[in-house]
Amino acid sequence: MTTPQGELLNAITNPARVRMDTWMRVQRATDRLRLLQKSGADTSELAAQVAEDFENLGPLEKYWVFPDSGIFARLKEQLDHSDFDLLANSVRLVVRNLREQGERASLFGDLDELAKVSVDDLLPGKPHYFTVLLVDDIPGEEMEALSKALRLVQEDDLAYQVLVVDSFEDGLIAALFNEEIQACVMGHDFPLWSEEPSNLLTSLLEEYQEIEENEPGIVHRGPALAEVLRELRPHLNMYLITGRSTTDPGESTYRIFDRVFIDLDTELHMTILQGVRDRFETPFFDALRAYAEEPIGNFHALPIARGNSVFNSRWIEDMAEFYGPEIFMAETSSTTGGMDSLLAPTGIIKEAQDKAARAWGSEHTFFSTGGTSTSNKIVVQALTRPGDIVLIDRNCHKSHHYGLVLGGAHPLYLDAYPLQPYAIFGAVPLRTIKQQLLRLKKAGRLDKVKMLLLTNCTFDGITYNPRLVMEEVLAIKPDICFLWDEAWYAFANFTPTFRVRTAMYSAKALTERYSSDAYRDEYTAYREKMDKLDPEDDSTWLDNRLMPDPDLVRVRVYSTQSTHKSLSSLRQGSMMHIHDQDFSRLAEDSFHEAINTHTSTSPNYQIIASLDLARRQADLEGYGLLNDVYQIALTLREQVEVDPLLSKYFRVLTPGELIPPEFRESGLDSYTERGSTDLELFVESCEKDEFALDPTRLTLYLAETGYNGNEFKVDVLMDKYGIQVNKTSINSVLLITTIGVNWSSLAYLLDVLRKIAEEVERKQEGAGSAELAIHKKKVEALTSDLPELPAFSHFHPVFRPHPDTPEGDMRSAYFLNYDEENREYVMLDEALEQVRGGRELVSTTFVVPYPPGFPVLVPGQVMSPEILEFMQKLDVTEVHGYRPELGLSVFTKKALEEWGMRAGPAT
Ligand SMILES: Cc1ncc(COP(=O)(O)O)c(C=O)c1O
Repeated sequence: MTTPQGELLNAITNPARVRMDTWMRVQRATDRLRLLQKSGADTSELAAQVAEDFENLGPLEKYWVFPDSGIFARLKEQLDHSDFDLLANSVRLVVRNLREQGERASLFGDLDELAKVSVDDLLPGKPHYFTVLLVDDIPGEEMEALSKALRLVQEDDLAYQVLVVDSFEDGLIAALFNEEIQACVMGHDFPLWSEEPSNLLTSLLEEYQEIEENEPGIVHRGPALAEVLRELRPHLNMYLITGRSTTDPGESTYRIFDRVFIDLDTELHMTILQGVRDRFETPFFDALRAYAEEPIGNFHALPIARGNSVFNSRWIEDMAEFYGPEIFMAETSSTTGGMDSLLAPTGIIKEAQDKAARAWGSEHTFFSTGGTSTSNKIVVQALTRPGDIVLIDRNCHKSHHYGLVLGGAHPLYLDAYPLQPYAIFGAVPLRTIKQQLLRLKKAGRLDKVKMLLLTNCTFDGITYNPRLVMEEVLAIKPDICFLWDEAWYAFANFTPTFRVRTAMYSAKALTERYSSDAYRDEYTAYREKMDKLDPEDDSTWLDNRLMPDPDLVRVRVYSTQSTHKSLSSLRQGSMMHIHDQDFSRLAEDSFHEAINTHTSTSPNYQIIASLDLARRQADLEGYGLLNDVYQIALTLREQVEVDPLLSKYFRVLTPGELIPPEFRESGLDSYTERGSTDLELFVESCEKDEFALDPTRLTLYLAETGYNGNEFKVDVLMDKYGIQVNKTSINSVLLITTIGVNWSSLAYLLDVLRKIAEEVERKQEGAGSAELAIHKKKVEALTSDLPELPAFSHFHPVFRPHPDTPEGDMRSAYFLNYDEENREYVMLDEALEQVRGGRELVSTTFVVPYPPGFPVLVPGQVMSPEILEFMQKLDVTEVHGYRPELGLSVFTKKALEEWGMRAGPAT
């Protein structure tokens, strides 16, 4: 069955937006109607427009409980009676509540009651509101009973309303449009099509219809709808109400539904509340808060606990003023008395981690308070031993390189495809990975290969297709472990489109695939085909899509995520998610040892609490928040493209510019075909393409302004306009849209870009020929004559454990540098001359220019002319591991010779 994302995304992004836009238009029109009426002018045309808008809103409004049909009927009545004064007031009330309260406004009653609502009632917070979707077409009186049982319920903490629809089509659309739905209750069977079909889901529903016609009685629409929703909004609670007679023992409803009710049961209401409460609860945060309220005598460490050393200080009282009292009340180093230990969690931290595992779809989740820098070192150490081979993207974050130095595994560096015109790297093609694995296989070294380590998504937004990569890699090395560095990608699990490109989703999907009978059949056919091909010919492996043997394959997947980079966690909040079929047998002990190695014995409790809260938020409102993030990102792309002034100086790089066509099977090359995004193609690209660009990461190309990336970031955006961006390349800056960016920040950014463009334009208009020539030269320097991005060269033979394979013993090189007599310094120009003259210069250290931020040299690596030329041309001041006044640090010939003798020549 095809997944319905494409059609549905169109549905989500457009109608929900169309709905709000229409309400806003109605508000403007009714305000004007009132004025026209007062002045005695003709109102007929405008009134007809409002009537038409109401007509258009009608079919959409059935997917929300506010405004309900009663309110809507009143508005129509006021319009029909030309009661424009009243109408304008009513519409204002509705629109204000729609914008500020959303579905929660339904708690306040009809229009008259709504008008009396006090400001206090409008405050967000308790009771937390959600909508329950009920999909069934039971007879009127039964529905009445059910609705009564689930009537508007007010508890201290939670309140909900029930939205009733009676078809598969309407149920699906409601769950997708209405972000406030948290629970779905379904009957067992109901009509497929809505009585007023929307035309949004035609092909999906036709597919269902065909299956049903071919296999009558097999498909039940309640479970079928739940199955689609599990893909699209997996965090919803889902319940089935089924009559005894319709329960089908073969149906695996237990996997899809949180609970099945036989007939209407009074437990349903409690179960719905419990489901949402369970997702709402934040065990660690709740306990920390309770702890902060208890009286405590502190004879432990941490004098700032309870503010004791701060509140009465004469010199740091501003600390208390700035941070407020709560942070001190919540500071403790206690691991008992209701608290828990991050190093060996058994209580509330464990519970919080288990909830996170559920939210991210992992088997185990662990928190880290040292950022993903620490999480990466933990996973690398846990899974590899000295001498193991790790295939790793050379451009990945430095924590991995240092993790390998510490753990002693040998990196085999993989080259990502370069994007020369923008001076950035893309990601590592699957073909490159397969080539290296085949090389290792030929050298008899496959048994040494332990892990593949890739960044998903990259800083610049290139995402892998983890299912595709893992499937083919597992076909060559069925027990390899994967570490996906998803530092930037914690949010992706909460969007239906990009979830399919996350490590945890993919690991689960592959585990299910390999245990199915259908896969065995597919594999048998594949083997027959492959057995006819020459196994010695590399193209057999490189040009065919490979499949792992279901009897050998083990799915062992780890992902590290900086929760703080894209969700509401304090800085350094990070999570490690695990889906490893062999975790308890092969990795659990070493994983705990690695946690102990890298975790402070005084982890920051505020960070842990914020991880717990970030999970709650993502679980309950991530879907809605991320819908907005994607819309903001797509709007920004669109605006820069269609605005004549902006487009003259700026360009947001497209998938077509950042991903070569051979990796984009879908053919998607732009998100903004002059204003309208082809969302179906977008979804196809997410599902299939080897690489896809996450639209929320926008590389703003600015060469035409004459500024380089760093000048633009620091001198213009930051110093002049207070806008912070993170990464730059020579001719671009990276804009990242997260749940912390709102429509106002977007408007501000666009205005700032317009001002900058205007300024550049003005300067050009007033410039003399000399200034114009200077500008032209600047632009040329940013667009042509860019330094060639250098590939990884190779490790020096004395650091290569095997002559036929390229992995290196980086750890030995790293520590060899600890003895001063083993190194010397060579100035950059001289180094280039020597290398051209045939001397092998070997780096003693990591050399990392920023930007671009990847190590152009690692310990033990031979300096190629390309690398040195790149460094010569680099126009950056920050190069970690290199002091221009000293030159490059290289191993002396003697040191290399002696190390070669000691280690024994490579054989
Ligand atoms: C790909 C990648 N991995 C890991 C990290 C480190 O994450 P953290 O800042 O949470 O330590 C970063 C930081 O920028 C990163 O870009």
